[in-house]
Amino acid sequence: MNTTFTIPHVTSNVIAMFCAAILLIGCDAILPSAPNDADVLDGPVDALSSAQHAQFLRGDVAFNDDVFTAATGLGPIFVATSCGSCHAGDGKGHPFTTLTRFGQGDENGNAYLDRGGPQLQNRALPGYTPEQIPGGAPFTKLTPPANTGLGFMELVSDADIIAMSDENDADGDGVSGVPNWRPLVSYLSAHQNSIPTNEQYIHRFGKKAAAYNLLHQTVNAYNQDIGITSIFEPKDVYSGVNIEPEVSASVIHDVVFYLQTLKVPVERNPNDEAVKNGKRLFIQIGCDNCHKQTLKTAYSPVAALRNKEFHPYTDLLLHDMGKGLDDGYTEGSAKTYEWRTPALWGLGLSQNSQGGEYFLLHDGRAKSITSAIVMHGGEAAMSTQKFQALTEAEKRDILKFLEQL
Ligand code: HEC
Ligand code: HEC
Repeated sequence: MNTTFTIPHVTSNVIAMFCAAILLIGCDAILPSAPNDADVLDGPVDALSSAQHAQFLRGDVAFNDDVFTAATGLGPIFVATSCGSCHAGDGKGHPFTTLTRFGQGDENGNAYLDRGGPQLQNRALPGYTPEQIPGGAPFTKLTPPANTGLGFMELVSDADIIAMSDENDADGDGVSGVPNWRPLVSYLSAHQNSIPTNEQYIHRFGKKAAAYNLLHQTVNAYNQDIGITSIFEPKDVYSGVNIEPEVSASVIHDVVFYLQTLKVPVERNPNDEAVKNGKRLFIQIGCDNCHKQTLKTAYSPVAALRNKEFHPYTDLLLHDMGKGLDDGYTEGSAKTYEWRTPALWGLGLSQNSQGGEYFLLHDGRAKSITSAIVMHGGEAAMSTQKFQALTEAEKRDILKFLEQL
């Protein structure tokens, strides 16, 4: 017969004392071990000054702990009540936290702005009616990306991004890649590393690279996701009328600083022979034509971010990913079939924040890394075919490499 014993309603302190008394049995099975630092995404970069660390912590609280209510300005129509509810632990979000956008967001403007576009606010305070997608409107569904290392990506110079782009595929590798060029919204000022063309600026955040910088993304998220106005975006999502700011500029700056100084995910097993072979194959079959291993930051007033090499596995460019991944939705100059190469750092940790499963690609449709790869089409078709032609052992090594990122 199986003899098990349970310890009802005891705190971990009590368990610890109990364990100390029975050291010989070993406590690993009873006490959860502290997570390894490399497995956790939501800490700050090293070497922040104490003032910077304090700002990081204020931003952390605003991002993760500030849950909006009717009394603090929530809605009246909204998608969620805090940033952290969709970006748990700053990791990739579960499909339950999907955002829906509708209309079109291209140069011609969104024809559905007067009917609630561009974002669906599918929840509402009592007495208000949540939005529905108007019949016939094109729409897209997006799962939340991980939020780590974004401060480094924000600091890649336009010159470096343009150098990776190859609009007419001059090198003949089947991969082109273009930036998302858009005019700047009025409250943004250009980075010193921006190289505008005809008053169009390279945008880089979001799945179609439709946001210029982390301020742009954060202001939009408060407004469109939570129904919170600010001096930057004073328009209320429900009435369409400008109202008093519901979140202060200083809180927004703290959240932006928090996002800028979140640490980067690190490779957890880079010296393993299979991992090394997987990385070699990843490069050999052309995955790194888009998922670029190494980028560098330009000048930043924050020393911890200044002139640093980092390894995100993205080129921050839009690529034609083929019919299978065409969502029928445009944003800025991004076409319906174009997506910004997602960073692959932290990929192996995404299950931690996605309920123990993978939900990859823009809408979480890929339930494994392999299925995400084989769903690549368009510019990535050649590289996908090469992946499929590998031996099972070689494919396994590529997966081992990706899982430890
Ligand atoms: C309802 C869920 C939800 C909420 C709430 C939410 N986000 Fe997001 N977030 C998303 C989704 C989905 C995306 C991808 C959007 C896109 O591609 O345009 C995203 C993208 C981002 C990005 C871009 C990351 C990248 O890799 O380009 C940042 C930064 C971000 N969110 C910050 C925030 C902040 C700050 C808040 C709170 C003010 C917030 N989010 C609230 C779902 C959410
Ligand atoms: C032409 C550029 C390009 C090439 C080449 C390419 N990818 Fe991608 N990759 C992308 C884009 C863009 C996406 C996002 C597509 C989407 O969300 O629908 C993506 C998504 C992924 C994802 C899912 C990431 C996530 O966060 O959901 C994985 C994993 C991945 N690629 C691995 C690979 C591997 C392995 C190779 C080589 C066999 C490869 N890619 C080749 C552009 C490329």
